[in-house]
Amino acid sequence: MYFSTPSIAATLAALSATVNGALVRVNDFGSNPTNLQMNIWVPSKLAENPAIILVLHPCGGSAESYAQMTKYNSLADQKGFINIFASTKKDNNCWDVASAKALKHDGGGDNQGLVNMIKYTIDKYKADPKKVFATGSSSGCMMTNVLLATYPDIFAAGSRYSGVAAGCLAGSPGASPQTADPTCANGKVNKTPEQWVVQVKAMYPEWTGTYPRMATWHGEADNFVNYPNLAEQLKEWSGLLGVTFSKNVTNTPQSGYTQIVYGDGTKLVGYSAKGVGHTVPAHEADDLKWFGL
Ligand SMILES: *[C@@H]1O[C@H](CO)[C@@H](O)[C@H](O)[C@H]1NC(C)=O
Repeated sequence: MYFSTPSIAATLAALSATVNGALVRVNDFGSNPTNLQMNIWVPSKLAENPAIILVLHPCGGSAESYAQMTKYNSLADQKGFINIFASTKKDNNCWDVASAKALKHDGGGDNQGLVNMIKYTIDKYKADPKKVFATGSSSGCMMTNVLLATYPDIFAAGSRYSGVAAGCLAGSPGASPQTADPTCANGKVNKTPEQWVVQVKAMYPEWTGTYPRMATWHGEADNFVNYPNLAEQLKEWSGLLGVTFSKNVTNTPQSGYTQIVYGDGTKLVGYSAKGVGHTVPAHEADDLKWFGL
C-alpha cells in the first residue's frame, strides 16, 4: 500500500470540493433551436421561490470562464438565487443579435433557447417568474438588450456592460468582430428614441405591456464597441420605458463613473465610465441592488 486511508480520504474530499464548485450542465431543458449549452448554479441554501439571473459571456468566452471572472455564483451562495450560465459555440462564441430569427419573439433564435432555459428553471425549482433578470458583457450585453426587447413578458430587469441597442445589428451578416457589419460597433447606427421604439415593437407586435427596467454601463474610452452605443441604448430604452433624462450624478458608484438618471431612476440608468475601455468590469453588487436582490 502506497497510500494510507486518510490520504485517500483527503484526496476525495478535495475532489468533491472541486465538483461542488462547478457549474452543472443541463441537457434537456426544452426546445433549443440554435444548439446552445445550458449550465446552472444552484446554491445549497436556495431561497423559497428563488430569483434567476441569466448571465451571458462576451464573444470568445464561455459559461465556465465568465463564471470564474465574475462574482455572481458566490453572491448566489450568499443570497439563495439561481444563476444560469449559457454558452454559444457559434460565430466566434458570440450571441446571435443580428439575424431576423433572433430579433423576434419566438423566432427560433438564440434568444428563444435562452428563454427556454429560464422556463425550465422556473418549473424545476419553483422560481419566482417575477424575479427573472439578465446580465452580460459585450456580446452578452447585446443579447441582454435583445432578450429584454423580444421577451418583455419574461424579464423584470437587466444590467449590462459595453454593448449595443437591440436591433443595432439588424441585417448584419454576423454578430462577431470577424463577421459583423462594423457600422453598429463603430457607433454609426444612430436613431431617435421613436425610431428605436418602432423597431423594437415590431419584434413582438402582440405585446402591449410594459418593458423591463434597464441599467447599462459603457466605457468612454471604448474603441471596440464605440461609446456612442451607450447613448443609442439610452435612447432606445427611454422610448420604451417612457422616461426622459433627469440628471447626472458624478462619481457614482465610484470615482470617474457618471450615473445618468432617467425619470426617477427606478426604470432606466446609464453609467458612463471615464477612461475605461472595452469592457466595463461587472459590478455584481450594483447589479443585485438594481435587481432588488
Ligand atoms: C451627462 O453625462 C454624460 C456622460 O458623462 C454626458 O455625455 C452628458 O453630456 C451629461 N449630460 C448633462 C446634461 O450634463
